[in-house]
Amino acid sequence: MRKPIIAGNWKMYKTPAESAAFLDVFLPLVKDHTRDEILLFPSITSLAGAIKAVRHSPVRVGAQTMHWLDEGAYTGQTSPSMLASIGCTHILIGHSESRQYAGETDETVNWKLSAALTHGLVPVVCVGESLDKRKANLTEAVLRWQVAAALTGLDPERAAPLIIAYEPIWAIGTGVTASPEQAQHAHAIIRREIADILGLGRAQTTRILYGGSVKPENAATLMAEPDIDGALVGGASLDPKSFAKIVSYAAC
Ligand code: PGA
Repeated sequence: MRKPIIAGNWKMYKTPAESAAFLDVFLPLVKDHTRDEILLFPSITSLAGAIKAVRHSPVRVGAQTMHWLDEGAYTGQTSPSMLASIGCTHILIGHSESRQYAGETDETVNWKLSAALTHGLVPVVCVGESLDKRKANLTEAVLRWQVAAALTGLDPERAAPLIIAYEPIWAIGTGVTASPEQAQHAHAIIRREIADILGLGRAQTTRILYGGSVKPENAATLMAEPDIDGALVGGASLDPKSFAKIVSYAAC
């Protein structure tokens, strides 16, 4: 069915030396883990070192952002082919912090999704409503809009690797987690929208992760919901022991 994914988003934390120190502790803790896919999204300066360090482990490494073009006069940008060439396997697209602070729009999300698939990078596309939108009863409208915009023009066959992350903005870094019921409800909306656009078959195989204040204490109850196929973890992924506990969520 859908293999669960536990992903750590390190945001703008950890130098290469700090990333290496994390992996020294973390990798032995997950070396025999096969139930879930394990992903880490370090910052760009830690990518090459992390990719080398995880080589004989079940962990895969992705980037937090990229441009959608192959190359060009775009100072400060990194292209999908550059990331693929160093062994990045995944790419985070449309994180609310990228939308808020780095000019990410529904349109660039759509372009990056297509570019990721072209270069064999597995896209993790983030969607989620703000507190204002939730209070105004617009959660469903926002989620459907963001998913539809991301998937515009996408062929269902080509979309096979797609991963979506539901990240309610009000739950990110706030310590306030969506309840399992709130998250399940949102995931079901997202899966229905994927079905409307890409067909039921693709909707059933697409993994939808929950992100927003996931911790060792709440991972298991979230993961028990039928449409929650994994977690995208920020703060609690920075400590190797805490992240390893989330990876082994059933035992929490
Ligand atoms: P958080 O971040 O776990 O610290 O809330 C999640 C994310 O932004 O991906």
